[in-house]
Amino acid sequence: MTENKATLSVNGKTIELPVYKGSTGPDVVDVRGLVSEGLFTYDPGFVSTASCESKITFIDGEKGVLLHRGYPIEQLAEQSDYLETCYLLVYGELPTAERLEWFRNTVKNHTMVHEQLNHFYNGFRRDAHPMAVMCGVVGALSAFYHDSMDFSDQDHREIALFRLIAKMPTLAAMCYKYSIGQPFVYPRNDLSYAANFLHMMFSTPCENYEVDPVLAKAMDKIFLLHADHEQNASTSTVRLAGSSGANPFACIASGIAALWGPAHGGANEAVLTMLLEIGDESRIPEFIAKAKDKNDPFRLMGFGHRVYKNFDPRAKVMKQTCDEVLNALGCADDPLFRIAMRLEQIALEDPYFVSKKLYPNVDFYSGIILRAIGIPISMFTVIFAMSRTIGWFSHWNEMMGGDYKIGRPRQLYTGYTKRDYPKK
Ligand code: CMC
Repeated sequence: MTENKATLSVNGKTIELPVYKGSTGPDVVDVRGLVSEGLFTYDPGFVSTASCESKITFIDGEKGVLLHRGYPIEQLAEQSDYLETCYLLVYGELPTAERLEWFRNTVKNHTMVHEQLNHFYNGFRRDAHPMAVMCGVVGALSAFYHDSMDFSDQDHREIALFRLIAKMPTLAAMCYKYSIGQPFVYPRNDLSYAANFLHMMFSTPCENYEVDPVLAKAMDKIFLLHADHEQNASTSTVRLAGSSGANPFACIASGIAALWGPAHGGANEAVLTMLLEIGDESRIPEFIAKAKDKNDPFRLMGFGHRVYKNFDPRAKVMKQTCDEVLNALGCADDPLFRIAMRLEQIALEDPYFVSKKLYPNVDFYSGIILRAIGIPISMFTVIFAMSRTIGWFSHWNEMMGGDYKIGRPRQLYTGYTKRDYPKK
């Protein structure tokens, strides 16, 4: 970090602030000294604030660039797979063949959950949203691993990593099975990560589910494309929770809660709900008009992004996977998919969307693929949470391995100043 200086003049006083250069991306003004000058910075939504230093993921929203440890997402999507990308995110380098085998095998050794955890599900209503169940059961993992809770110890952090990555698909599939009243399906360690997830979702004790390799590949790509995305709302939540010293299972549960909202991970579910509501191509103009109407809170779900203002590089790969899956399953003619494709085309040409740089994001296509695979809509965000667990973990691990302070944002207070309670 090369240092430069910025000068701030405020209340007749000149304050010098250090400016740092990252390896790429915008320079960063260090405002930490302002508090001793009696000043705070104001940045709701943290649009201009770097909350931490990180070496994991880089995004250039203007150019549509997403790099994990320097590797472009398009190259990883084409040449790597989810588990190798997990290794890259957490350890910083691509694994050797031996290390990758060790990593895959160790994940497999942890796929089962404690049998007692199964009973937790019975405490939930069957019609509970699976994200509600996931917040609960993932947080509950911390009740099982008292043996390795010293997170200043790298080995304890590593065992938490394997437990989380390996058990998330098992817990997620259990949410689905519970919701439809079927028995839980145990993991099969002879299958790949993605194929095992599909197996746990769709096989039953009386009927085996033959995993279609095209669908397993698409599933793996969805996991990979959602693996990490820098300091987004849920990752920042995980870091903030972790900054108090909370355990990683509790931190990831907080990430799941933050991801749930429709402006973040809940968008893939919201896309499908919106498509179902549109229902017919003839109603598309009506919804486009609603999206443009300033007095209508409706937004076209799956369009726009806080950071990407030209295109979402993940969406490009996802669109290609979407075409592959729809063709393989022969459902390119499905009315809902036709609405989606027409909507995409209109939004890409409409001056409102073009001028505001609102392009289809990753969740526009992922929802369509997941529906084609047969995943129920309510499970979409759960799948995002499973995929993002490695990103959340990597950021938490990076923070725990370095110097960190408890997160404590300040505020611009505009409420009452001191006043007295009325005398009775
Ligand atoms: N439909 C219609 N108008 C939109 C949309 C949309 N989807 N998104 C943004 N706008 C308009 C918005 O009304 C505003 O207009 P104006 O300047 O006239 O007030 C302008 O575009 C800028 O919007 P913003 O809310 O300031 O942009 P933001 O960067 O704060 O929000 C966003 C980004 C993703 C929350 C937003 O685009 C949105 O709500 N999209 C739909 C939900 C969605 O698909 N979310 C998934 C994001 S990708 C997955 C993830 O990373 O979690």
